[in-house]
Amino acid sequence: MARWLVTGGAGFIGSNIVHRLAADGERVRVLDDFSTGKRANLRGLPPARVQVIEGDLRDWRAVLAAVRGCDYVLHQGALGSVPRSLADPVTTTEVNVLGSVNVLEAARRAGCVKRVVLASSSSVYGDTPTLPKTEGMPLLPLSPYAASKAAMEGFARAFSASHGVEAVLLRYFNVFGPRQDPKGAYAAVIPRFFHAVLAGERPVIYGDGNQTRDFTYVDNVVEANLRAATVPRAAGEVLNVACGERVTILGLASLVAEALGTTTRPLLQPARGGEVRHSLADVERMESVLGFRPPVDLRRGLELAAGWYRGSLPGAKKAKRGK
Ligand SMILES: NC(=O)c1ccc[n+]([C@@H]2O[C@H](COP(=O)([O-])OP(=O)(O)OC[C@H]3O[C@@H](n4cnc5c(N)ncnc54)[C@H](O)[C@@H]3O)[C@@H](O)[C@H]2O)c1
Repeated sequence: MARWLVTGGAGFIGSNIVHRLAADGERVRVLDDFSTGKRANLRGLPPARVQVIEGDLRDWRAVLAAVRGCDYVLHQGALGSVPRSLADPVTTTEVNVLGSVNVLEAARRAGCVKRVVLASSSSVYGDTPTLPKTEGMPLLPLSPYAASKAAMEGFARAFSASHGVEAVLLRYFNVFGPRQDPKGAYAAVIPRFFHAVLAGERPVIYGDGNQTRDFTYVDNVVEANLRAATVPRAAGEVLNVACGERVTILGLASLVAEALGTTTRPLLQPARGGEVRHSLADVERMESVLGFRPPVDLRRGLELAAGWYRGSLPGAKKAKRGK
C-alpha cells in the first residue's frame, strides 16, 4: 500500500482527493495550516489511515517531516484567488513559490518520493487570444497569483532537470464541486452563485457576463491527480485539466439556477483587474497521457454540486421560482 501526502488536504480540492484515497484504502497524510481549509472538510475519515499535520508550507522543517516516508506527493496547498494576490502579492508569493520549493526540495532530500504532482493553473496562460489553450503556449501571467504558479512550474522543471525529481504539472481550469467555500471576498464564482440563489439573492457578476470559462467538476480533477501520480508516461508532463467546453458567466448563472430548479437575474458589477477574458482548454494531451476522459460534464457536475450546497448551507432558503 502506498503512502500519499496531500498538501492543502483540508481545502476544497485537497479534501476531495483525501476522501477518495481513504475510500480506496490508501494511507494518507495531510499537511495544511487551515488558513483557508477547514477541519470539517476532513470529518468522517478513518484516523487509522489518515494523519493530519497542522503546519505551514513556508516552514521547511514542517514540510520535510510531512514528506518523509511518502511515496507520492500531491501538492495542492496554496493561496488561491487572483483578487487576493492583487491585494497581498507578497504572501501569495511566499506560500505558492517558497512553499512549492520546500515541497520539491523535501521530495529530493527524503529519497522515498516516487513522484510529485503539482497543482498549477490555467491563469498562467494569461489573455492569449488563441483558443483553446494548449500546453505549449507561452506563459503570460496577468496577476501575481498566475505569476506564482508560473514560478512554481519553473522550479518543478528545474528540480526535475537538475535533481531528477519526477514532477507532473496539472494546469487546472476552473474547478467546482462539494466543499468549495461559498463565503468570503475570495470565493469562486460557482459557490458564490449557489449561495446567492439559495439565499434568494441575485448572483453578482463582475463585468458584462460574456467572459467565458471551462469549468471542471472536482471528481475529474481528483482522478487526474491519481493518474498523474501513477501512470508511467505522465512523468515530466504538463497537462491541462478541464472539460474542454466553455460557458459564459451569464450562461453559468442560468445553469446554476436550473440545477436548483429555479431561474435568476444576475446583478452586473464593474469588472475586476487581473482576470482573463476567455478560457478554454485543449484536453487532448490530458486524455492521451492519463488515459481518461473527464467523466462528469458541467450539467451533471452542477446537479451534484446543487445537492451538496442544498444540504450544507445552513439557513439557505428554498430557491423560489422566478427570483
Ligand atoms: N479551485 C480552482 O478552480 C483552482 C483552479 C486552478 C488551480 N487551483 C489550485 O488548486 C489548489 C487547490 O485549490 P483549492 O481550490 O482547493 O483551494 P483551497 O483554498 O480550498 O485549498 C488550499 C489549501 O491550502 C492550504 N494552505 C494555504 N496556505 C498554506 C500554507 N502556508 N501552509 C499549508 N497549507 C496552506 C489551505 O488551508 C487550504 O486547505 C491550489 O494550488 C490552487 O492554486 C485551483
